[in-house]
Amino acid sequence: MDSELIIPKHIGIIVDGNGRWATERNLPRSMGHKVGAENLKNVCLYLDELGVKYLSVFVFSTENFKRENKEVVFLMDLFVKMFKSEFDEIIKRGIKVVFSGRRDRLRKDVLEAMEYLEQATAKNHHSCLNICLNYGGQSEIVDMTKKVCKMYKDGEITLDDIDVDFVSKNLYNDLPPVDFLIRTSGELRLSNFMLYQSSYAELYFPKIYFPDFKEEDLLKAIEEFNKRNRRFGG
Ligand code: IPE
Ligand code: MG
Repeated sequence: MDSELIIPKHIGIIVDGNGRWATERNLPRSMGHKVGAENLKNVCLYLDELGVKYLSVFVFSTENFKRENKEVVFLMDLFVKMFKSEFDEIIKRGIKVVFSGRRDRLRKDVLEAMEYLEQATAKNHHSCLNICLNYGGQSEIVDMTKKVCKMYKDGEITLDDIDVDFVSKNLYNDLPPVDFLIRTSGELRLSNFMLYQSSYAELYFPKIYFPDFKEEDLLKAIEEFNKRNRRFGG
């Protein structure tokens, strides 16, 4: 690896293409999710190794509840299994896991698995993994607005306290801006992912289905990030 590479502080990944990966292999879509979840774990570990301090991954949108019940149940079962028994290495590495999204509509065992992981990693500070589950970027802004309105109503803040940083701190998690946003599979959409945090993110859309998105592809992505001239409007 080129030692001069600038490593983005916060990377966002919209996980996409699991279904098509499976369908192209005459496998059920669920197999794509299974292999995708395994790959996601490796991606998290590899980016932590490279020195990425924040990684946000979009694994289930509020809109994904519209999918066939069978697929939703499979995904929820998979999340429980992953969080409870396959994140040992992530815990050991010192990665802190937080979740973004609404907690309503999620099964009790899913909520318990999420709470287990949050608690098991609460004191970790090597890097931070933000898992967006039952997440929508517009809902996040709506929920922040309600929270801030209540603070104002209760006299905890004045209108002058509300600025760009204040809003950012009152989203689901207090995270730095997304520097580099990757969506696998070739789709060219943001699909409601971290709208506030991604205002100045560099966008990258590799034509690779997520289960096939490996270490060498991540390195290529970061090399591409290094070629971009970030101007932040200047
Ligand atoms: C992404 O893969 C995983 C989730 C949204 C849970 P998809 O399931 O969207 O895969 P495609 O887009 O159908 O190929
Ligand atoms: Mg998709």
